[in-house]
Amino acid sequence: MKKKLVVANWKMHLNASQSSLLLSHLHKHLHPYKDVEVVLAPSMLVIQPLGLQIDRRQFRLAAQNAYFRDEGAFTGEVSFTMLQDLVHYAIIGHSERRLYFHEDLPMIRDKMAACVRNEIIPILCVGETKEEKRLGETKQVIHDQLISALANLTSDDVQDVIITYEPVWAISTFEGDVAKPTDVKRTMDYIKLEIRELYGETTANRIRILYGGSVDNTTASGYLDIEGCDGVLVGAASLNYLQFAGIVEAAHKSVTN
Ligand code: PGA
Repeated sequence: MKKKLVVANWKMHLNASQSSLLLSHLHKHLHPYKDVEVVLAPSMLVIQPLGLQIDRRQFRLAAQNAYFRDEGAFTGEVSFTMLQDLVHYAIIGHSERRLYFHEDLPMIRDKMAACVRNEIIPILCVGETKEEKRLGETKQVIHDQLISALANLTSDDVQDVIITYEPVWAISTFEGDVAKPTDVKRTMDYIKLEIRELYGETTANRIRILYGGSVDNTTASGYLDIEGCDGVLVGAASLNYLQFAGIVEAAHKSVTN
């Protein structure tokens, strides 16, 4: 059985001491379940110190972003190569990166390839905006994002990729409408179908698909209980250790139910 994956996206919150404090609360308050993998994506600044503090039996680390070149004159950037020994995962294609930092499909494709080349597992975010949803373009948008992001990977690589369905309109920092699990399931099924058609049954069965967007301790189980949902990506609620503990609890229950 696949473990449920719960990913905390701390975004641009918490300085070094605040991050360290949150981590010590998480060590204390999160029960280490064998059937739940918990991943923390702190700011780039604190990945290294948290890596020293973290109990690796309980948590893994992820980067929220990195640049697609391995090294060179790219002022202000950090490469996947530099992160190689520090993180297991990296979030790629988050809608905030697409929107505020103008990351387009080719850039996300290059980041996916760089991530895999450096033996970091990508957590690829895909999802439609409110307007695209209104126009009935959800499937087309997801299709384009998937095809492009995975274009330079082999089917072996694709088996390990994690895909997160994050409808932009459901992310708390944008508008934060709460997505209905039935609607989420429809799109997650579509993602699975696309992967099956492109890469075959084995890859479709192995690949992990998460949901993200306003997940908190009250809504988590609704998404985690969706058949085919392998976990959740949590933003705002991951900054509160009690709420986050509740989400991890819900993930455990969804496996044991
Ligand atoms: P949210 O963010 O849980 O605050 O909606 C999710 C995300 O953007 O990863």
